[in-house]
Amino acid sequence: MAACFHQLNLTPIRSAFQSFQSNPNPTPKCARFRSRSAAISNPKRSYNITLLPGDGIGPEVISIAKDVLSLAASLEGIEFQFQEMPVGGAAIDSVGVPLPDETLSVAKQSDAVLLGAIGGYKWDKNEKHLKPETGLLLLRAGLEVFANLRPATVLPQLIDASTLKKEVAEGVDLMVVRELTGGIYFGKPRGFGTNEKGEDIGFNTELYSTTEVDRIARIAFETARKRRGKLCSVDKANVLEASILWRKRVTKIASEYPDVELSHMYVDNAAMQLIRNPKQFDTIVTNNIFGDILSDEASMLTGSIGMLPSASLGESGPGLFEPIHGSAPDIAGQDKANPLATILSAAMLLRYGLGEEHTAKRIEDAVLETLNKGFRTGDIHSTGKMLVGCKAMGEEVLRSVDSQRPAAVSYQN
Ligand code: IPM
Ligand code: MG
Repeated sequence: MAACFHQLNLTPIRSAFQSFQSNPNPTPKCARFRSRSAAISNPKRSYNITLLPGDGIGPEVISIAKDVLSLAASLEGIEFQFQEMPVGGAAIDSVGVPLPDETLSVAKQSDAVLLGAIGGYKWDKNEKHLKPETGLLLLRAGLEVFANLRPATVLPQLIDASTLKKEVAEGVDLMVVRELTGGIYFGKPRGFGTNEKGEDIGFNTELYSTTEVDRIARIAFETARKRRGKLCSVDKANVLEASILWRKRVTKIASEYPDVELSHMYVDNAAMQLIRNPKQFDTIVTNNIFGDILSDEASMLTGSIGMLPSASLGESGPGLFEPIHGSAPDIAGQDKANPLATILSAAMLLRYGLGEEHTAKRIEDAVLETLNKGFRTGDIHSTGKMLVGCKAMGEEVLRSVDSQRPAAVSYQN
């Protein structure tokens, strides 16, 4: 097979950051697969996981990912204790703010955080501090997860879902490393004011320090080193000072990674090259806003944003794992969502958040097997395949996890 999820592996970059706290009485539960997922009397390891279902399709996909996590982990003798907390619109409705203090503090004390999605029409007109999106930005800042890894892999099973020509999309396997807690999203000054003509103005600041660029660059070089050894740094150094500094620092850090081939590209060209010849990319590192845009573009190479997971990591403390699709309010509550991006985010949680590579691989293998069997949610459906809803897709992944035998899993080092 040309592409498989474990090629996304960059395990060791996270290993130094992990905290292995134990907890007393976790009880993974999963109604239909109880025999394999009942509480383990003598767990090898146990972890506290914060679940943030959020809004729209978030609760549906999180509940499935939770079952998959519990089952896969139980097969490896690992136990989880889950704590569900409100965030986004759900938190605005229940507590009055998009990121309650308690949610952040529970998240900070846990071993990893799994988020569904935030946002919806209902809160679109709210003032900025009461928007669900503000909750997500505060969460990223509060957890100090500055490195956002967004893989985009075109699976052979889903090649027809891509809108690109088969020969262009086939074999695409790239990783966008997006800086997540700096740049124009957080730079000051920002705000509204009036110009000399008396007109209203809005302004933001694109700002990066050497520390911020150096640390994301190192994560990106480490990532590239575990992949195909190619890193493309994307900026707008022909116009922006913040990008000039970015390019200078990335070039400097490159001397620590002589085995990685570094190139630089302006963001407008990168947007074009991603569509023209996406296979030229292995790892891309870029700032917060360019990463936001390019990762959405990269996701579409794969055909559906419903397939793509992400991991956000800091220097210490728990990582934040989330599907990159949004809350999809148009299909929320209709059992139509694709749960695979969240299931794959749970696999990233295991790999990058907890260093549990074997269990991550189990989940990724189960997702591939489910696709191989022909099950498809609406967003990835094509003629001849079996159209299923969110729950049924989840059940199929559970079935595949459940049918795995330890010996059948080919572990990766
Ligand atoms: C993303 C989203 C967020 C962002 C929004 C919801 C604040 O688009 O995770 O890419 O802009 O970072
Ligand atoms: Mg985005």
